[in-house]
Amino acid sequence: MSLHLQSSPHFELLRNYLRAAGYNEESLCDRLEIRDMCELAAHTGRPATPAMGSDELGLLIRLLLLGDDIDRQQLESALSPRVVEAFTSLGLASLDPATEGRLFCPVAVYPIGPLFIVSDRWFPVVGKEFQWSDDFVYPAITPNTREFLAALPVTPCDSFLELCAGTGAAAMAASGYAQKSWAIDITERSTQMAEFNRLLNGLDNVTVLKGDLYEGVEGTQFDRIVAHPPYMPSLRATRVFADGGADGEQITRGIVTALPRFLKPGGTFYCLAQASDRQGAPLQQRLRGWLGEEQGDFDVAFIEMCQQDPKDAAFVYALKTGGGFAVVDLMRDSFASLGVESLPYGWIVIQRRNSPRSVFTTRRSAGPRIGREEIAWLLKWETFAAGPSALEDLQEKAPVVRPALEFHALHRMREGKLAPEQFSLHTEAPFFGDCKVQFWVGFLLPLCDGKSTVRQLWEACKTNNLIHAATPLHEFARLIGVLISGGFLEVAAFYPPLPPQKPEGQRRISASLEIGHPAGAGR
Ligand SMILES: C[S@@+](CC[C@H](N)C(=O)[O-])C[C@H]1O[C@@H](n2cnc3c(N)ncnc32)[C@H](O)[C@@H]1O
Repeated sequence: MSLHLQSSPHFELLRNYLRAAGYNEESLCDRLEIRDMCELAAHTGRPATPAMGSDELGLLIRLLLLGDDIDRQQLESALSPRVVEAFTSLGLASLDPATEGRLFCPVAVYPIGPLFIVSDRWFPVVGKEFQWSDDFVYPAITPNTREFLAALPVTPCDSFLELCAGTGAAAMAASGYAQKSWAIDITERSTQMAEFNRLLNGLDNVTVLKGDLYEGVEGTQFDRIVAHPPYMPSLRATRVFADGGADGEQITRGIVTALPRFLKPGGTFYCLAQASDRQGAPLQQRLRGWLGEEQGDFDVAFIEMCQQDPKDAAFVYALKTGGGFAVVDLMRDSFASLGVESLPYGWIVIQRRNSPRSVFTTRRSAGPRIGREEIAWLLKWETFAAGPSALEDLQEKAPVVRPALEFHALHRMREGKLAPEQFSLHTEAPFFGDCKVQFWVGFLLPLCDGKSTVRQLWEACKTNNLIHAATPLHEFARLIGVLISGGFLEVAAFYPPLPPQKPEGQRRISASLEIGHPAGAGR
């Protein structure tokens, strides 16, 4: 890779040119007949595309995305000699030694929102050798990186740090709402491409550093830290972008363990990864333990999107490494010795409190949609609920039943008659939730119409003998809080995002590029 890494007027020229030429997500999706750019990187092969034609946009897609070699003169007449000169001088077009007078682009260049991102290409290009390099620069249009980028908050912050940054796409996107953002990656190639991306997008408030985890920013604290680290369990570390040690957690653990040093009070950490539940120690509890002595300052939330059985993970690993049954056994033994019971994949969100209050630890199952609104709601509500005056404040709020709530009653035959036996609540938004309840909740729910406060509901329940007359108000308020937390009820100032209009069907967790969660593990 010989990308140009010094400031040059060619960066601005190309940026403006690509914008004017319509090299954006919408036009590319139209031309490629796909719904989302990440469909291109959902598999490791060359994407099947319709014919691209030889107009300006078609040639750009072929050169920058698909890796075709194109006659220099043809490029110059469609794009202009000045633009072709900018491509070659920045290293985005090289003369193909195998073919006379033809140019090819050694990396992939694609739009992500308003940005142009350069990464390694994830498929073999016709006529050229393709090999996964150990320090492969992970493309930012894989479905899992897209998922990562799409769920990060875009609210203003002072200082933003992306660890395990690869192309640095999150740090670049943050340049629009953070005063200053940093991208750190351990490999030289990722660091170079991230720096190239910074220059290509003309971002002066982004700093790109090469380092192991937080190396290079010691002594600085950040408002927001994000990571999409390597997390594939592996017996031998061979691919820096994917391998996360025997349990897949090595890098994530290193990041979380150091949060007390690097996350500002009031700051939040967002990480999309796979990790493990162990015997007697579910992941959320283990995450808290990793925070060490200062864990009392941190809220911990884990939002599970799917999970994998360790036996299946061992099998998948053996298939990928070509190790056969001996490797399956080795990996299964390794998981067993660590006490790994399951390998959940999802969002780890850790928040540092900035005022005295109790902290929370919670785990949720993602519903059909999991994005920044769902995560923001969870943090906002749980933070309120952990506050010193939550139960008093709640007494004056008027809860409403959420539109997607289901109330289930299970009836069984008892002495020749069908009798109600078990009651439960179910919702899929903002998260999947099932909660067994006592029968009287079925009478309470219709009263929750947004007009009666919790205090009035408590009175009504006592008057109608639904609850014991001695039930304290704060106990009743606590129950209402649990129902709000589960997404069954809602109150003003804490309305969860609306559920998706149409059912989106099963969640897709892609097997993209060997780090996405294995196919079939999704719900
Ligand atoms: C799965 S890729 C993700 C890249 C990027 N964050 C994204 O979402 O597209 C993981 C990245 O972590 C980097 N990495 C691995 N170990 C690291 C470490 N100890 N410190 C910093 N970066 C690391 C790899 O080089 C790779 O770029």
